[in-house]
Amino acid sequence: MARRSFIAGNWKMNKTPDEARALALELRAKLEGFKNCDVAVCPPYVSLAPCVTALRGTNIAVGGQNLFWEKAGAYTGEVSGPMLAAAGCEYVIIGHSERRQYFGETDQTVNRRLQAALNCNLKPILCVGETKDERQRNVTEEIVRRQMDGALAGFKPEALATLTIAYEPVWAIGTGLTASPAQAQAVHAFIRGLLKAKFGASAAEQLRIQYGGSVKADNARELLSQTDIDGALVGGASLVAKDFDAIVRAAK
Ligand code: 13P
Repeated sequence: MARRSFIAGNWKMNKTPDEARALALELRAKLEGFKNCDVAVCPPYVSLAPCVTALRGTNIAVGGQNLFWEKAGAYTGEVSGPMLAAAGCEYVIIGHSERRQYFGETDQTVNRRLQAALNCNLKPILCVGETKDERQRNVTEEIVRRQMDGALAGFKPEALATLTIAYEPVWAIGTGLTASPAQAQAVHAFIRGLLKAKFGASAAEQLRIQYGGSVKADNARELLSQTDIDGALVGGASLVAKDFDAIVRAAK
């Protein structure tokens, strides 16, 4: 079945609110009228409002980079799903490897965040992927299976309707090393197989799986042409309007 491509920019901890607004306006100008695939940008929390305003009425959606699973309360420093939704977010990234590496994210906390996102109708982008050491030890599938099982524990097939998975091999993030199209395709097919076994063929066939890890204007087309690669989660290159624009235009 034909899945609509989805390109998202993860701006990580970059851009002040003014810089974020300027980048959003640049993207707006470049992608005016572009409808061939779904597009989103995920700026830091403080830049959500200016980006939502700058992108209103366009086909470029806005997403958060994380959320906390409680709705409100005494959780200093956290931001909840309902807050993101009220700020105009359509998407939220969950379980990014940087959060797993530096902020103690586990498969269990990813599971809770995912549930919280779905409860307030945010569309989650769930990140999975192996480290360099895990790839070298040949346990990529085992790791990805554990991450997927943990994140999706207790979910019904309906939960997959708005979910996107991002396969991001940790060794390819911000390193300039990219998984080869064949390497990435193999893991994407593996992930789709897991989903099929767990949730059935129809849910698995509809779900989009993005690749992330040093996606650039010059390698996007080949990666995105693979059967099970339905889009990209772009870090560094999403901070430059012309590069992100080129990646969006490379989508199937
Ligand atoms: P880079 O594109 O900078 O490698 O980052 C990928 C990523 O982590 C997107 O979430």
